[in-house]
Amino acid sequence: MTNSALTFAKDTKDATLLHILGPEEVEAWLKGQSDMVASWVRAQGFGGQVGQSCMVPDSHGGFALALAGAGSEAANTRGRFLLASAASGLPKGVYKIASDHPEDVLREHALGWLLSRYSFERYKSAPPHEAQLICPDALDEEALVQIAQGEALTRDLINTPASDMGPEALEAAARGLADTHGAKLSVTKGAELLAQNLPMIHAVGRASVQAPRLLDMAWGNSGPTVVLVGKGVCFDTGGLNIKPGASMGLMKKDMGGSAAVLGLAHMIMAAGLNLRLRVLIPAVENAIDGSAFRPQDILASRKGLTVEINNTDAEGRLVLADALALADETPPDLMICMATLTGAARVAVGPDLAPYYTDDDRLAHAIEAAAGRAKDPVWRMPFHNPYEAMIEPGIADLDNAPKGGFAGSITAALFLRRFVEKTPSFMHVDMYGWQPASAPARQKGGVGQATRAIFEALPEVLEL
Ligand code: BES
Ligand code: ZN
Ligand code: ZN
Repeated sequence: MTNSALTFAKDTKDATLLHILGPEEVEAWLKGQSDMVASWVRAQGFGGQVGQSCMVPDSHGGFALALAGAGSEAANTRGRFLLASAASGLPKGVYKIASDHPEDVLREHALGWLLSRYSFERYKSAPPHEAQLICPDALDEEALVQIAQGEALTRDLINTPASDMGPEALEAAARGLADTHGAKLSVTKGAELLAQNLPMIHAVGRASVQAPRLLDMAWGNSGPTVVLVGKGVCFDTGGLNIKPGASMGLMKKDMGGSAAVLGLAHMIMAAGLNLRLRVLIPAVENAIDGSAFRPQDILASRKGLTVEINNTDAEGRLVLADALALADETPPDLMICMATLTGAARVAVGPDLAPYYTDDDRLAHAIEAAAGRAKDPVWRMPFHNPYEAMIEPGIADLDNAPKGGFAGSITAALFLRRFVEKTPSFMHVDMYGWQPASAPARQKGGVGQATRAIFEALPEVLEL
């Protein structure tokens, strides 16, 4: 599971000093250099812009120092982890950040560098990145590596296609993580889901050749209790309300919520936070065969609420509802649900922002502040009570797919909230989990969202 590319330089001797400069700083810096260095840097056209780097030679044919563009202030409002773009142009070697930066800036640089080293190599190897960074003294090296490794786990799980990441493989991944950290994993599978009163997980997943299951991981024995629930739809065909090809194309990522909670669980367990963690993942494939659940079926749920199926493609909320209801029976201090739940969320905020819902203002404020520090942007959305009527059909308690499509992400969130009654603090993230085009520290493909923000907020939220 550990990705060896996501580490800092071990051998710290013979490091090249790396000056990270924005366009506003270059001229002043050049004034302090020798004429030779200044004219070399000018001749190379280095201006501190995003993606620019420049090696300055010494008199023996080696490198005297290196420069990397930090981007302008304006560029930094448009992007994050901008050093990562320049780092990818640096030649093989070990680099030590020379300039004096505030700790938050250093942290962004160092974490961005690590995350930019991620590549998905299960099916094809990629050329190694041979420029290595020495972790700046002011930062906690181990903590940064743990965060990057958690993110890499999330990306690997999302990037792996359903042919190798069905419910069975997702279970194996959760087991691997549990074993690494001494956590316990129990699994309820197939017909046993019915015996254990988890009927909606069974209904959604029963048409797949791989049995639906609920993964239940437990770790820690002291401190506040936290439950993470992640949508583990390993592939979403839409079911009998089959998705058109273009919409189905990316649906290997429909287990993005489970990948995110496993990555977050890794961060929590590796850091040894003083809390008791439970991770619940309904792992299913929304497939099509004669046993598939149908439009207009009415499903019983664990909580006892009946649900009219008006679209078999709104399956995520069904499997999550049983998991949330189970967790709510032993209410934790904090429950967080993460899911690639609706296309409406993507339409509302696009792929870069993770929309989240909570009624707990204190939690929201902590998440917001932590998101800024972690460079993991989130956006609060409303649990708008007047829309409750939209999820109430005529002949059952709940409707899984309100007609009209108004406020699709909000109505899905309201649906989930119906299954959480006793837990004092609940948050749901309707994430996208996919980077559509490569950006600094985020290659095209699976990506974690809100996980670093949540991890960063936990000490404040739980008073750890
Ligand atoms: N997995 C999808 C949501 C999704 C689609 C997330 C595209 C990210 C990108 C989910 O199961 C789904 O299909 N939801 C439907 C619900 C609708 C039928 C009420 C949707 O959002 O269209
Ligand atoms: Zn769906
Ligand atoms: Zn789905």
